[in-house]
Amino acid sequence: MNPAAIGGGFNPNIPNAARMYDYFLGGKDNLPVDREAAQQVLRYVPEVPIGIRENRGFLQRAVRYLAGQGIRQFLDIGAGLPTQRNVHQVAAEYAPGARTVYVDNDLQVLAHARALLQDSPLVLVAEGDLRRPEEIMRDPDIRRHLDFDQPIAVLLLAIVHFIPDSDDPKGIIARIRDSLVPGSHIALSHVVIDERPQAAPGVERVYQSASAPFVARMSDQVTPFFDGLELADPGVVNLHEWRPDIHHFTPRLEQVGAYFLCGVGRVPERPSGS
Ligand SMILES: C[S@@+](CC[C@H](N)C(=O)[O-])C[C@H]1O[C@@H](n2cnc3c(N)ncnc32)[C@H](O)[C@@H]1O
Repeated sequence: MNPAAIGGGFNPNIPNAARMYDYFLGGKDNLPVDREAAQQVLRYVPEVPIGIRENRGFLQRAVRYLAGQGIRQFLDIGAGLPTQRNVHQVAAEYAPGARTVYVDNDLQVLAHARALLQDSPLVLVAEGDLRRPEEIMRDPDIRRHLDFDQPIAVLLLAIVHFIPDSDDPKGIIARIRDSLVPGSHIALSHVVIDERPQAAPGVERVYQSASAPFVARMSDQVTPFFDGLELADPGVVNLHEWRPDIHHFTPRLEQVGAYFLCGVGRVPERPSGS
């Protein structure tokens, strides 16, 4: 992969992970190059659009749950292109007055998000890269918008599978966890390849030429990302199994094994003296 292709600005010639996601969701903010790459992914894993819709469902249930836990501040890293029922809109329903920061490293995402999401003083869109979490946590604009002395929910949804092992995703998440006060939460979702290991090399190859590299991981490589957090019930499970709404039924997913894991964990109290 061309390192210059990671994140960065608008380039109509390389597939863009955010625009491919938009295409899978049925959106219109994508280009021929994205649709071609997405079609290649679909040849390997036809269920991707179902999984992605489930991921958006998890986002909404997680924000609702977090609001119920008293969370009034959301930091959504890898926010993606605006779509329906974005974090601050769900938060406004269940926690009026909640403040949201959307972070992404893709300049096109940031431009769209500033135009469509930054519609109230409660919302801030900021450039940042998950591979450098300290820069996000220390960003003066973000710190003016969020009070880091109060609990914050950090959302890492469908982003950590774009962080290669060489960037130490487990360490990144631990550093974020340790920079938050107890009572804060981290919500995370991550594609897993347990059921389709044979498709993984093909999907990784498609994303090699894209704006972010997809990293295929098995469940047992993803569950350690939640280490050091107090997991909310039901723990780390498939998207459709996480606190499903009463009418939630996804027939094509009911029988499959692990395909896209998620969970929400609370930052615990620290032993006194630490
Ligand atoms: C698949 S989208 C997920 C959007 C949203 N979080 C969701 O779950 O619906 C992944 C987003 O992560 C962003 N991204 C990828 N690598 C990133 C990084 N290292 N730092 C910040 N954003 C990144 C991409 O630009 C893209 O907008």
